[in-house]
Amino acid sequence: MTSRRRFLRLAGLAGLATVVPAGALAGHVWVTAGRGNVGRVRFERPLAVPPVATPRRDAAGRTVHELALRAGTTELLPGRSTPTWGANGSYLGPTLRMRRGDVVAPRVRNDLPEATTLHWHGMELPAVADGGPHQLVPPGDTWQPSWRIDQPAATLWYHPHPHGSTRHHVHRGLAGMILVDDDRATGLLPERYGVDDIPLVLQDRTVTDDGGTDTDGIDFGGTDIVGLLGRDVFVNGTWGPVLRVTTQRIRLRVLNASNARVYDLALADGRPFHLVGSDQGLLPAPVETDHVRVSPGERVELVVAVRPGERLLLVSRPPELGANVLYDRLAGGDNEFHLLLLAADGQLAPSAPLPARLPAAAPVAPPPPGRPDRRFDLGDFTINGRTMDLGRIDFAVPLGTTERWRIRNRQGVPHNFHVHNAAFTVSGATAPDMRGRKDTVFVAPGAEVTLLVSFGQHADPTRPYMFHCHLLAHEDAGMMGQYVVVAPGTEDQVNPTNPIPHPHPHPHP
Ligand code: C2O
Ligand code: CU
Ligand code: CU
Repeated sequence: MTSRRRFLRLAGLAGLATVVPAGALAGHVWVTAGRGNVGRVRFERPLAVPPVATPRRDAAGRTVHELALRAGTTELLPGRSTPTWGANGSYLGPTLRMRRGDVVAPRVRNDLPEATTLHWHGMELPAVADGGPHQLVPPGDTWQPSWRIDQPAATLWYHPHPHGSTRHHVHRGLAGMILVDDDRATGLLPERYGVDDIPLVLQDRTVTDDGGTDTDGIDFGGTDIVGLLGRDVFVNGTWGPVLRVTTQRIRLRVLNASNARVYDLALADGRPFHLVGSDQGLLPAPVETDHVRVSPGERVELVVAVRPGERLLLVSRPPELGANVLYDRLAGGDNEFHLLLLAADGQLAPSAPLPARLPAAAPVAPPPPGRPDRRFDLGDFTINGRTMDLGRIDFAVPLGTTERWRIRNRQGVPHNFHVHNAAFTVSGATAPDMRGRKDTVFVAPGAEVTLLVSFGQHADPTRPYMFHCHLLAHEDAGMMGQYVVVAPGTEDQVNPTNPIPHPHPHPHP
């Protein structure tokens, strides 16, 4: 199979039209790409719930979470031992709770054989603390950034971001949730962690018979138009997970920590649920829907009403990707997955009714008239015709402003778009996955999305933040750029050639 795939990869995207009708080889790819996990999984293992890390307080009063990044092995499929990476364990990492107003100073120790970074996805923080490709931590070293949490309650996450290797480091399992807590948002929704407030980290993977991971397709090219799509989906590392439900309502905080797979979450019987939060926190009011799309890097918070004694599957329907028939299939658009079995007790403890309104942060206001929009054309695995250069700053944003960003996908391949240190509102959004304040958004082939973007409260003319496609093969191939936030009026003084020495991660073996 590997050599077949390689052959097709060599044939290249341009050759696809002639390759596909060519029969057996193409037929194999076509069939494989259409496979989900329906009928292959027995739901009988208790859902693993990542532990909540216990921080300490240092002499300066800062909240310190310890994270040791390690290699290990994990039994992802019964009886097979799979080499994986994790934080404080062998796969994924603990949930970090950080309270608005606190000064945090997580200590990241790299016990991996390679240099990596740890990025706090969705966090507003100084660029030097961001954990992007410039904050490389060599093996054996410790990195301890610090910042004040100053943003609304939200479900964020952490993951590595070493330039050119992010797809490998995340796929091996380095991903964990960060729950930002804010008094304004407490007491309204189910919030007992692991009881009625459940983190769900989704990663797809193909585990081979000997327990290895099939990484064929992790680099995009040929028929691998979005990068790696795994055959199985693991929820918090559990295959065929069951969650015992003891309350009438549960809140599911879903993180798509997959390299390339887009999910369309639904309940198997099609019943509606409520979307209460997206990337950057709560929505202004619960939105009733029967499905929601989640692309890589995005988070959604759902509240599901459960009946006593029932067994209810959380599924991923074939996601709407907006591509042509061929690309849609190659990007996972025909795949259906069963994800999690909710097994309700015969007697359920009462849950408070859903509030009609939620304390959401206001939508991002449009910029003052006269400020030019910024355009980002996603095409040919570049942004505005360029690939990522750690030594180039693409533009400077004045501190305290908002901007209108127009993101256009000029390709037939799906992309998404993520901005560090930012929260944005999608202009004119009606689809459930476009609601609320976000930091990552799906951009279908040929589509244009307009974002109203606000930036964190930290200026630094020399250290950039990233914006990029969060399909990790695309990101690693260079679909990324850098911006800085500067004191208003100093935008023109920024050196477009990033003057700070930047590290290069060791090439991946
Ligand atoms: Cu989830 Cu640039 O990151
Ligand atoms: Cu990020
Ligand atoms: Cu992309």
